[in-house]
Amino acid sequence: MYAGLEEQTNWIPPSFQKAAQNLAKEAVNKFVKDSQVVGLGSGPMAAAIVREMADMKNKEALACIPTSFQIKLEAECSGLKIVDESYIPEIDVVFDGADEVDSKFNMIKGGGGALLREKIIHSAAKKVVIAAESSKFVPAFSWPVPVEIHPFAIHIARKKLEETGGRPKMRMLREGYPYVTENGNFILDTSFRFDSKDIRQIEVALKSIPGVAEVGLFTRRADVYYKAKEDGTFEVIER
Ligand code: A5P
Repeated sequence: MYAGLEEQTNWIPPSFQKAAQNLAKEAVNKFVKDSQVVGLGSGPMAAAIVREMADMKNKEALACIPTSFQIKLEAECSGLKIVDESYIPEIDVVFDGADEVDSKFNMIKGGGGALLREKIIHSAAKKVVIAAESSKFVPAFSWPVPVEIHPFAIHIARKKLEETGGRPKMRMLREGYPYVTENGNFILDTSFRFDSKDIRQIEVALKSIPGVAEVGLFTRRADVYYKAKEDGTFEVIER
């Protein structure tokens, strides 16, 4: 085990940890079959699901594609086989978390900075399975939207984001350095007044700004949402 990894699932608020373990068990039983290509989102919920996969009998038959070093380390520690991006067109199922899920099941993702690779694997997957604490299911978004920007475009993209009504804020490390994604980009966490605006339109508009590598608005509705509850149970919302 790498130092620090054992605390991963503890980043899920304590009152939701039991539900996370329970839903991970069910999700893996229900959605992971022999010889599948599995996309791994990033964050503590995805880690809880990866840990459940460690106990599968035929796990060596799976091919797993991680979206970050965080989840890659988890997958390696769980004895899963990691494959490269040439398998992305074949992804059968993706397991992932979310930062917020609105009433229409749009999501904000990218709190952990893995939005670009997560968006790519969601777009390719036959099935997307999301797990999140019930507190993240909200009537309307209140989180800032992570927008990943190529460094050369950081000033102009900030200006363009302001022109679209956003309030961008550079993501910084505690030590005072800018946060740099695994793709070598910066993140502008950008607050919006969403009101009744069409989230898909906003996603497309932000994505069209030159230098924007990816936007943390996910408007492809997932196939299944696991809503973890504080009493250790969970709700399954399928479309
Ligand atoms: C990673 O960049 C994010 O998109 C995560 O998927 C998101 O932050 C949610 O993770 P948890 O639900 O595990 O907190």
